[in-house]
Amino acid sequence: MPHMRCYRERSNARLEVMRIFLDTANIEEIREAASWGILDGVTTNPTLMAKEKREYDSIVKDIVTIVDGPISAEAICNKCDDIVAEATQLSKMHENIIVKIPMCIEGLKAVRKLSSQGVKTNVTLVFSGTQALLAAKAGANYVSPFVGRLDDISGHGMKLVEQIIQIFRNYGFKTQVIVASVRHPIHVLEAALMGADIATVPFDILKKMTQHSLTDIGIERFKADYEKLPKK
Ligand code: G3P
Repeated sequence: MPHMRCYRERSNARLEVMRIFLDTANIEEIREAASWGILDGVTTNPTLMAKEKREYDSIVKDIVTIVDGPISAEAICNKCDDIVAEATQLSKMHENIIVKIPMCIEGLKAVRKLSSQGVKTNVTLVFSGTQALLAAKAGANYVSPFVGRLDDISGHGMKLVEQIIQIFRNYGFKTQVIVASVRHPIHVLEAALMGADIATVPFDILKKMTQHSLTDIGIERFKADYEKLPKK
């Protein structure tokens, strides 16, 4: 994969662990993934929330009791002042709430204001390096490039991630990259090889990341051979 470059080896001497977030609003999935001991945070969006057929705030309140890490909840408003008001409300729900703000001019203005107020933001629906650059300049804590949706239209999602990592490294931006719209484990593998900060992963993909047919065959063979051992 020639487009890949390592991000972390040239930045800080102290390496940070890649973080895995779950991309869902489903409480059972979050509880299950949290029980595996590898879950660092959760991202939601209005589409994921709508699938749960429950009131928005009550879902957010449930999630923060299960996962002690960044929880992204999305602001829906269109105008800067409305986004700021909504984001402020969301951020007051819990200290771990990160407000997801769609990439647009009003969104950038809101990110700048919220950043100066100490409200953490995740600029979402990022599809280009220049969008990510502007989000970082506005003070976003996270940007979410949607790799799967770019691949869906014959773009190259992970190439975008590589560009964003390069831009942030060139200028020392602290903004973290969340690889989002993940469609398969290879997206996560490539994100890890590039040194992306975070991948946010649907639960079915997270399960696939644990699986390998040779592992299953090996487990079955060990069990069968164990049964052949002489019994006491
Ligand atoms: O985190 C963003 C993600 O939920 C979007 O995923 O599958 O709707 O493109 P998708």
